[in-house]
Amino acid sequence: MGKDTLTITDNRTGKTYEVPIQYGLYPTYGASIRAGDLRQIRVSEEDFGLLSYDPAFMNTASCKSGVTFIDGERGILRYRGYPIDQLAEQSTFLETAYLALHGELPTGKQLEEWVYNITHHTMIHENIKKFIDGFLYDAHPMGILVGTVGALSTFYPNAKGILDPASRQKQIFRLIAKMPTLAAFAYRHSLGMPYAYPDNDLSYSGNFLSMLFKMTEQKYKPDPILERALDVLFILHVDHEQNCSANAMRSVGSSHVDPYSAVAAACAALYGPLHGGANEAVLRMLREIGSKENVPEFVKKVKAREALLMGFGHRVYKNYDPRAKIIREIAERVFEVTGRNPLLDIALELERIALEDDFFVKRRLYPNVDYYSGIIYQAMGFPVDIYPVLFAIGRTPGWLAQWQEMLLDPEQKIARPRQVYTGADQRDYVPLQDRR
Ligand code: SDX
Repeated sequence: MGKDTLTITDNRTGKTYEVPIQYGLYPTYGASIRAGDLRQIRVSEEDFGLLSYDPAFMNTASCKSGVTFIDGERGILRYRGYPIDQLAEQSTFLETAYLALHGELPTGKQLEEWVYNITHHTMIHENIKKFIDGFLYDAHPMGILVGTVGALSTFYPNAKGILDPASRQKQIFRLIAKMPTLAAFAYRHSLGMPYAYPDNDLSYSGNFLSMLFKMTEQKYKPDPILERALDVLFILHVDHEQNCSANAMRSVGSSHVDPYSAVAAACAALYGPLHGGANEAVLRMLREIGSKENVPEFVKKVKAREALLMGFGHRVYKNYDPRAKIIREIAERVFEVTGRNPLLDIALELERIALEDDFFVKRRLYPNVDYYSGIIYQAMGFPVDIYPVLFAIGRTPGWLAQWQEMLLDPEQKIARPRQVYTGADQRDYVPLQDRR
């Protein structure tokens, strides 16, 4: 192999430049040049220098990160080096959250302290209930979440101390702990039901089920199969490197705003139907299809560009999303408790046809994490519009891990991309009476 450099010849001037190639862990996955090294390529002294133009960052690394590794070609997903299928099988959501944030699996004592701290931060200020009460009964829970997470920043002014590790740690406990409470309270509000407060005797996922579904019983007893299924679904959502909402978290956090405001921005990004809103859109799509017999007709609409096949496709995975595989296995376990969800048969038929059809094969469109998750959530009794909120609960540790990594990265500064200007050249103001 030759030198780790790129030699660039600018044919406008005949000049050549040599720029270093830098690597991450793998020499053949993540080799890059520094975009700043292109600025020396100029045609004259007053030339600003060459930019790299990359709409939607299709081929741009915005950071160096060690939180998550994805290989889209081989369908690989690892958190801090641990394969997602091993974590889904052997870990818990809170342990995986610890791993994402600290970089290592916790010892027994570390895990005990971590779980204790999160468990004892699940309550929210009573005033937050007044915000939630102010929403219409049919307000989308993601809209409530964006509002209430952002509002939390006003209850913890010390959270502005983002460079103080102790302050960061405290807000990390609070955010991971309070997301389920905010989500559950939003759900209860939509039903006109009283809020069910956290039960610290239960696990993280068991407590969430209790706050959602507790009725008149003294103590809610979560079904262990559903409790575990939900915990695994949260594990599968913990992080996914530089996805749209993680990018929002990093970009907004780079202004050194508090983490509650940054998480609110990440929630807003996740709310979009092309991102975290897709699991909700999949359910609506399956309901619209209505039966297996209608699947071919729907596929025709997708191929005619009249509809997207929600839950299919991915910016990185050009193979089966490894999380979708695991979620399909969870579905069978959940349906043993809840009864089979008839929408699964439509989803399976839709997948079967899509995986054989050249339109999808050519574009390398496979089921992603959102394709089957909604079917499980529906079988577990969650209303469709809360699905993106479930995604946000699982993704909060990942957002915080990306945020903290950004703050501690000496190369990172406030995010401020360049642009390629294509507007009007200078022109003089035209008084109103002279305009045509
Ligand atoms: C998540 O980034 C992450 O990691 C996200 C995520 C995470 O964990 O954070 O994995 C979670 O957001 C999963 C994605 C959920 N979204 C959906 O399921 C919505 C449906 N999917 C598409 O909108 C789309 O696949 C995206 C947004 C997911 C990816 O879009 P890209 O990378 O910009 O790809 P593209 O739109 O350029 O698609 C390439 C081609 C296009 O056709 P051509 O113009 O080349 O002919 O494939 C087509 C697209 O029209 N296409 C689809 C399609 N997805 C892409 N056609 C029909 N149905 C689809 N779902």
